[in-house]
Amino acid sequence: MTTQINTSLELGDIQAAALMPRPNPYAGAYVAVRIDDRQAGRELLRRLIPLLEPVSSFDPGRPVSLGVGLSFAGLEALNVPAESLATFPPEFQQGMAARADYIGDVGENAPENWEAPLGSKDVHLVVAALARDTSLMETLVRLAEEAVRDLPGISPIWQLDVHVPPDGREQFGFKDSISEPAVEGTGILGSNPHEAPLKAGEFVLGYEDENGDLPPIPQPEVLGRNGTYVAFRKLHQRVAAFRTYLRQNATGDASEEWLAAKFVGRWPSGAPLALAPDKDDPELGADPERNNAFMYGDDPRGLKCPVGAHARRMNARDAVITGEVRLHRMIRRGTNFGPSLPPGVLEDDGADRGLLFAFVGARLDRQFEFVQRQWVNDGKFIGAPAERDPLIGVQDGGQFTVPRRPIRRRLQGLPDFVVNRGGEYCFMPGLRALRWLADLDT
Ligand code: HEM
Repeated sequence: MTTQINTSLELGDIQAAALMPRPNPYAGAYVAVRIDDRQAGRELLRRLIPLLEPVSSFDPGRPVSLGVGLSFAGLEALNVPAESLATFPPEFQQGMAARADYIGDVGENAPENWEAPLGSKDVHLVVAALARDTSLMETLVRLAEEAVRDLPGISPIWQLDVHVPPDGREQFGFKDSISEPAVEGTGILGSNPHEAPLKAGEFVLGYEDENGDLPPIPQPEVLGRNGTYVAFRKLHQRVAAFRTYLRQNATGDASEEWLAAKFVGRWPSGAPLALAPDKDDPELGADPERNNAFMYGDDPRGLKCPVGAHARRMNARDAVITGEVRLHRMIRRGTNFGPSLPPGVLEDDGADRGLLFAFVGARLDRQFEFVQRQWVNDGKFIGAPAERDPLIGVQDGGQFTVPRRPIRRRLQGLPDFVVNRGGEYCFMPGLRALRWLADLDT
């Protein structure tokens, strides 16, 4: 018997925050909530649901928008029946902290060094709240206060204010959030015209994926369908250490900016090395029609963009690697937190700054965890077992090779430029599923 696969996406049921591009610039906050009383938790959902937008009525001009996810402990706190909880995948049931060794959260990145309450079983519900600018933050705060008013069993336990500056640059100074996959059936155009849209099942539960399968979804169907998973991480960035390393290693004809671009795979403006191998091209970087319209097939050795550069590791496109790129794609939602380090400063000022990274995808194991383990913290897939991602890998004094003629440049003694301060896996249910959770009577 063949399974009937419903390929038409229920865009009226999928949270817009999961799939839709965010405004740029914007300000916002991630808020984690503990649910001590399941009735209060359900009431909180009832109050949040009317504030959520589905993909179908997504309005990019909307001043504020919200997304809601629940950790496994959060589903338990709502008293979701055990037979339903058991249908969630094991990595989600365990949570990010329990997966630390597997995904490379070791040493300084280990959960015992995380910022409380991240990594604890207290993080139950996470709200991502976005506003088009800082003046609207008050509206957001008011919405949040109203949602938790007179709900004694609900405690906001963590908040991180985030923002994307008008130039879209992350804390190391590079334009981010350029490359995103196209998702079949959503009408959202990807940024790379050379990449065919990915099957919706890669990003939303209940639909066919790239393997042609209908992956198992949490049960009952009303709970799992149109949901997705989010892995969020508070990634502290050592901007002073990054700049100092570049200063110390920019010798000969290699400028600091050239070296940094080789780490990232793009110039600060966003211009990709694949199209602008020798120097930055701000016009190209600013042009959404061109700044992601490339492949790596004509650069097998990495003479233009190093094979080990961050962006090329994270999406090798048509380059030959061990494995299949399309099975490990993701939607990314990166936003800055903390103040930026003023240009030219090489001393660390002790400020907490970095990137709140959020992965969105249907498979935590095959997408997020695979990428963390194989593409960030290993190099075998590109034939460089001694190398890790130069920007975000756990280095342990690692090395990074910049292929060049006549001889390559090999950098040694890389420090960790990014440290994970904590995170969690969340399930981002569809709107019907949220209502089902709110109406539980167990
Ligand atoms: C502080 C941490 C990070 C920084 C500063 C950073 C920075 C960047 C920058 C500047 C780009 C190029 C812009 C673009 O192509 O959109 C990029 C691309 C990308 N990054 Fe990161 N990133 C960080 C963490 C991560 C993590 C943890 C992951 C996944 C586990 C990741 C996955 C990706 C992907 C998939 C791309 C797009 C590659 C492409 O399609 O060409 N990044 N990142």
